[in-house]
Amino acid sequence: MGRGFFLTFEGLDGSGKTTQMRKLAAWLENRRHRITVTRQPGGTRIGDRIRQLLLDSRTENLSARAELGLMFSDRAQAIAEVIAPALEAGKVVLCDRYTDSTEAYQGGGRQLGSDVVLNLHNVMCGGLQPDLTILLIPDFDASLRRARRRNDRMQKSGTDENRFERENEDFYRRVYEKYREIAARDHLRVVTIEGEAPIEEIHQRIVKLVEERLER
Ligand code: TYD
Repeated sequence: MGRGFFLTFEGLDGSGKTTQMRKLAAWLENRRHRITVTRQPGGTRIGDRIRQLLLDSRTENLSARAELGLMFSDRAQAIAEVIAPALEAGKVVLCDRYTDSTEAYQGGGRQLGSDVVLNLHNVMCGGLQPDLTILLIPDFDASLRRARRRNDRMQKSGTDENRFERENEDFYRRVYEKYREIAARDHLRVVTIEGEAPIEEIHQRIVKLVEERLER
């Protein structure tokens, strides 16, 4: 689709991907690339409403399949409204989470399996795949600790987007394993950045990688 470049960021909650995405966006703008930055769930007016439903910890009794469907409804809307038009216009699209998140969280975490997710991806997203996915895999325990700290902070400040962050360690272990499986399977698209390193060092690695891919 289009002439642009579609770049996604993936990782566990607390992996630092949002920070890295912001830094890369600033770097790209400095180099005069035209960019569009978005996130999932959310990124459109309809998507923001779906996001609220999905992430609010007061949402009770949402079945795993209903959750899966909402993730893809959000994504279909984002593709139609934001991603496809930006790619058509030749922009670099940076997206915080995409279908790999659904495969990891709903397929792995919720144990719905990869097949159902990949089938829905074909139907709902027309199979639109990122040109490059940066998967941040820091140390499992450290990222779990960061996610929990953020959870506490958000609860104190009254912002409530913690439905997933409340999941137990087994859930996150399954998400983690599924991310690894995706990275091994799609090793040309997915580049994994492993382990703990300073923010600036990881940023430099990402810049190098993106520069290389954009030149191709
Ligand atoms: P977000 O605030 O984007 O978390 P983070 O900053 O850690 O990325 O919240 C998104 C949450 O939704 C996150 O816990 C992962 C979950 N999620 C899914 O379970 N499936 C999906 O398809 C997507 C896009 C997100």
